[in-house]
Amino acid sequence: MARSRTVRQAEAMTTFSAWWVEQGQDRTTTTRLRDDMTEAELPEGEVLLDVDYSGINYKDALAMTGAPGILRHWPIVPGIDLVGRVRSSTDPAWTVGSRVVLTGAGLGESRSGGLAERARVPSSPLVAVPDGMGSLDAAGFGTAGVTAVAAVLAIERHGARPSDGPVLVTGAGGGLGGIAVAALAARGWTVVASSGRAATDADYLLSLGAAEVVGREPLAEHGKPLQRERWAAVVDGVGGRTLVNAIAQTRAGGIVTSCGMAGSTELPGTVLPFILRGVHLAGIDSVSLALDVRRRVWDRLSRDVAPEAASAVRRVVPLSGAEDAARLLLDGGVRGRTVIAVGGADR
Ligand SMILES: NC(=O)c1ccc[n+]([C@@H]2O[C@H](COP(=O)([O-])OP(=O)(O)OC[C@H]3O[C@@H](n4cnc5c(N)ncnc54)[C@H](OP(=O)(O)O)[C@@H]3O)[C@@H](O)[C@H]2O)c1
Repeated sequence: MARSRTVRQAEAMTTFSAWWVEQGQDRTTTTRLRDDMTEAELPEGEVLLDVDYSGINYKDALAMTGAPGILRHWPIVPGIDLVGRVRSSTDPAWTVGSRVVLTGAGLGESRSGGLAERARVPSSPLVAVPDGMGSLDAAGFGTAGVTAVAAVLAIERHGARPSDGPVLVTGAGGGLGGIAVAALAARGWTVVASSGRAATDADYLLSLGAAEVVGREPLAEHGKPLQRERWAAVVDGVGGRTLVNAIAQTRAGGIVTSCGMAGSTELPGTVLPFILRGVHLAGIDSVSLALDVRRRVWDRLSRDVAPEAASAVRRVVPLSGAEDAARLLLDGGVRGRTVIAVGGADR
């Protein structure tokens, strides 16, 4: 007993690398890469992980650069998603070495997240990386992939079917949009992809399964409150006028999923599509998804979406490059997913 306690204490003293965001007395934040992090500084949780990959999402970029409104706990390791291997677990459901993925669930917002070589996490939202899916590909899907497929499941829950009409995906050239295109096409939907890169990237979107690629400008213009009914369903990653026009073009009884705000957080529209056409607006919050939805999402990703849907818009950066990657993302210099290689090679 005494020996194992000593071993445990020694392990807990082992240091590892982690990004660390602190808040000073004056509420300014500092972000630094530490090489002296210890397990004792990780939050409570049933499962201790060796992190293989994390990602830089928009939220991570904001958190790492000191923008207000994301972090709810200091000091903290940022990183809202991770893929790793179980190092130890007090929950017998997880055995040492199991490959797992975790997105949202407060990671990198209210509890330390994925941008560290180790993470301690609750077991309840944890999902096994599907058999046959590489860890790098799982990280490539990450939060964007989970959100995209959660939107597809919401559309199905609403009862919309491919025979009802086409589905519109906005911001289709981004990480979330591309995965949504692939996931919808795999289920038989006729997908119209709206993208600012329609002129240059149409082949990519068609290869993912889009039936048609259209420019983003017409949807960004001021439009009438009720327009020609076109879409049985919408996956929107853009917000603002794009979302309002998409709602105004949705068929009676159709569903619009609001997933993102790449263009705007505003909703400058009218209630007319809701009260005259019974259009449904569904918000997609990937952070708080129930475990059964998380499991279905990862099952869908493994069955329906080729890793190329994410890897074509994926770049892999070492842990030391995470802060620069965050700034680049905020400057608009990144397309698609930035995966952070934390613990090394793909497996
Ligand atoms: N609800 C959730 O839980 C959740 C989870 C993850 C992400 N999100 C949000 O979902 C959105 C998309 O995420 P992502 O990972 O796919 O980001 P991303 O890879 O950066 O893609 C965003 C895409 O939106 C389009 N876009 C960017 N700026 C625009 C503008 N000013 N006007 C119109 N379109 C614009 C671009 O597509 P085109 O080049 O094709 O036009 C861009 O590729 C983000 O706002 C993100 O914060 C939400």
